[in-house]
Amino acid sequence: MRGVSTVRVDLGDRSYPIRIGEGTLGDVGPEIARATGASRAALITVPGVGRRYAARVTRSLKVAGLRVHRFEVPDGDATKNLRQMAKLYDAMLAAGLDRSSVVVALGGGMVGDLSGFVAATYLRGIPFVQIPTTVLAMVDASIGGKVAVNLPQGKNLVGAFHQPRLVFIDVQVLRSLPLRERAAGFAEVVKAGALWDADFFARVERHAEALLQLDARRLVPVLKRACAIKAEVVAQDEREGGVRMLLNLGHTLGHAVEKARGYRGLLHGEAVSMGMVYAGRRSEELGLAPAGTEDRLASLLGRFGLPTELPLLPRKAYLEALRVDKKSRDSRIRYIVLRRIGQADTVELTPAEILPAGWERRRKA
Ligand SMILES: NC(=O)c1ccc[n+]([C@@H]2O[C@H](COP(=O)([O-])OP(=O)(O)OC[C@H]3O[C@@H](n4cnc5c(N)ncnc54)[C@H](O)[C@@H]3O)[C@@H](O)[C@H]2O)c1
Ligand SMILES: [Zn+2]
Repeated sequence: MRGVSTVRVDLGDRSYPIRIGEGTLGDVGPEIARATGASRAALITVPGVGRRYAARVTRSLKVAGLRVHRFEVPDGDATKNLRQMAKLYDAMLAAGLDRSSVVVALGGGMVGDLSGFVAATYLRGIPFVQIPTTVLAMVDASIGGKVAVNLPQGKNLVGAFHQPRLVFIDVQVLRSLPLRERAAGFAEVVKAGALWDADFFARVERHAEALLQLDARRLVPVLKRACAIKAEVVAQDEREGGVRMLLNLGHTLGHAVEKARGYRGLLHGEAVSMGMVYAGRRSEELGLAPAGTEDRLASLLGRFGLPTELPLLPRKAYLEALRVDKKSRDSRIRYIVLRRIGQADTVELTPAEILPAGWERRRKA
């Protein structure tokens, strides 16, 4: 197929390709047919994405001989719930979708997680394909096989591991993605470099503005490498015992901010950006990373327009959000630090050690 590069995710008999190109959306049908052998497709999307891109995907699936059933769920993470799952099961049964069907997720990480969990559970599991349409979904959510929905008690509390048969990325769809969403996705791209690959981090530094403007010449190879990094990490540790932990760089405090803010007003990537800069600072303070690590992170993330300082919430609120074991205030957390740009590591720290008293005096903005 024209101008498409491939990243392979190596997971034994569950291995699959990630195909990345520009303007390739109309070629997805034959790829899905080949990867799944399915005769019908449940195309799951949200209205804003479906309106723009579902027709092209549908046409291509039909050309490849598949019958297409389109299902739309309301936009927003609040939709990623069990009620939507039940609605989708109902609609899929009513449409007569059986084991010869594939679930195709067309959208951001929300659609991917919800559709993936439907695919993992419908008729005890049917094939699944991801067509991610946000930067975050392309480099992060669509890779690794984690699928889940939220419960009122918390995010992603019910889910499964269900690897897709194919991830199909057309970077052209990012043109309609709001700039703020785009930037938030690049936080995860920067994270991939910071934790795993110093040369890649330097490449993102060279081209930050071009990337944010979606210059395909820069964007395709960068997204490809970011996908490859996540794929490498996941291949080494599919079920998260060791190295996969490193992907949580910036997420310990990032999640704490999201939680303390009630998941309002802040995009996930923005919270991760703040958490990552803080991780750089803390790594320097603990004598683990060389001076300048924090500044390099802050300066690159700042060029994407991302926030680089944790908000001034009361320390108590942070410590509360950091506590995993509610009974013990001193239980340790595996906190992700940097040894340097390009190499992350874990250290066991208590919440109070992660965010020592007086932390706010060291904020730079
Ligand atoms: N499974 C994993 O490993 C994993 C990893 C990270 C995040 N996630 C999950 O991913 C979700 C967040 O993903 P997200 O940031 O992609 O959010 P999202 O799916 O909510 O998409 C963000 C917004 O962009 C819109 N949008 C998507 N593509 C568009 C396009 N091409 N043009 C115009 N608008 C578009 C969506 O409609 C939505 O309003 C969360 O539910 C999170 O839990 C999962
Ligand atoms: Zn993340």
